[in-house]
Amino acid sequence: MEKKSHLLNITDFTKAEIVEMLNADINSSSELFAAADETKRLYVGSKVYFRGLVEFSNICSKDCFYCGIRKSNSNVHRYNLTDEEILEAASFAYENNYGSLVLQSGELASEQFADRIEYLLCEIKALSDNKLGVTLSLGEQTRDVYKRWFDAGAHRYLLRIETSNQQLYKRLHPASHSFEKRIDCLRILQNIGYQTGTGVMIGLPYQTIEDLADDLLFMQSFDIDMVGMGPYIEHEETPLYAHNDILWPIEKRFSMALKMIAILRILMKDINIAAATALQAIDPIGREKGVKAGANVIMPNITPGMYRNDYSLYQNKPCTDEEPAQCRGCLDARLSLADSEIGYGEWGDSKHYFRRMKK
Ligand code: 5AD
Ligand code: FES
Repeated sequence: MEKKSHLLNITDFTKAEIVEMLNADINSSSELFAAADETKRLYVGSKVYFRGLVEFSNICSKDCFYCGIRKSNSNVHRYNLTDEEILEAASFAYENNYGSLVLQSGELASEQFADRIEYLLCEIKALSDNKLGVTLSLGEQTRDVYKRWFDAGAHRYLLRIETSNQQLYKRLHPASHSFEKRIDCLRILQNIGYQTGTGVMIGLPYQTIEDLADDLLFMQSFDIDMVGMGPYIEHEETPLYAHNDILWPIEKRFSMALKMIAILRILMKDINIAAATALQAIDPIGREKGVKAGANVIMPNITPGMYRNDYSLYQNKPCTDEEPAQCRGCLDARLSLADSEIGYGEWGDSKHYFRRMKK
């Protein structure tokens, strides 16, 4: 009989162990990937869940140094889908059995924005007979706003911490952006009862392997339910582009992201992990490689085609010329290559969340 990997019995890693695995060559990491895959099958099953992603506006009040749609980038053509266009995308997701939807946009905090999302949530619930799950990814908001959206039917929220290293966070953001506020928001989301997701970018300038190990330990100690993390990809219209000379090669950022996914799957066995779109920007089957490394969620872009080019957080964003229907066809085919089945019509909730709520 084949010898079982010791990694299958792991319930905790030390920081030094994580650093060692992250430092290992990708070609000698097959035991790690096999153990992550086996862990996924044992704890969350082998299905991949779809979240139809609607990037409904690129208007943003934030100015993160790495992001292509930051407020100060005056080269961006700003757009804002109409309510009808958003609801049409939601109907598309429902009719195509995606099970759930992610609403994402640039960050805005206003009464009008809060009202709009609340209205859209009610409409999405109505058009799908309450069947479409809704995840929000709308940045930092007040407790009151988060609660209103939760009561209107949103049940998951994504808010990336970007990096758990506070000093690095400060280097990547203007002084008005606060690491502490981000942490507070994540705690509030958890307390309200959202399935709470976070994530980081991998291969940022000045980020170390130790930082990445800390990121995984942060997610574990925060008891997070969902994670989306992907490689940092430079955008020439951002201030961080000036630091390109110290970046890891893109292949290293990519393989590091796969190792991060695999280690996290072993560390936090029953969470949902999304294979980030940024993986596909580097490798045409990058997201499928993410699934093989331990991810169980994919977010196909269902933003209407004409707006896609304008939501460029980073360069070479994939599928910007496609229509939603085309994306679905290509994903089906690719996932079957990765021995996975798609959980059509299912919410695919984080199993970890239900365990956390029972505590
Ligand atoms: N490269 C990779 N990811 C990026 N994001 C923003 N800019 C970049 C970039 N240049 C990610 C951030 C943000 C999410 C919406 O997109 O992590 O939280
Ligand atoms: Fe902060 Fe886009 S401006 S992530």
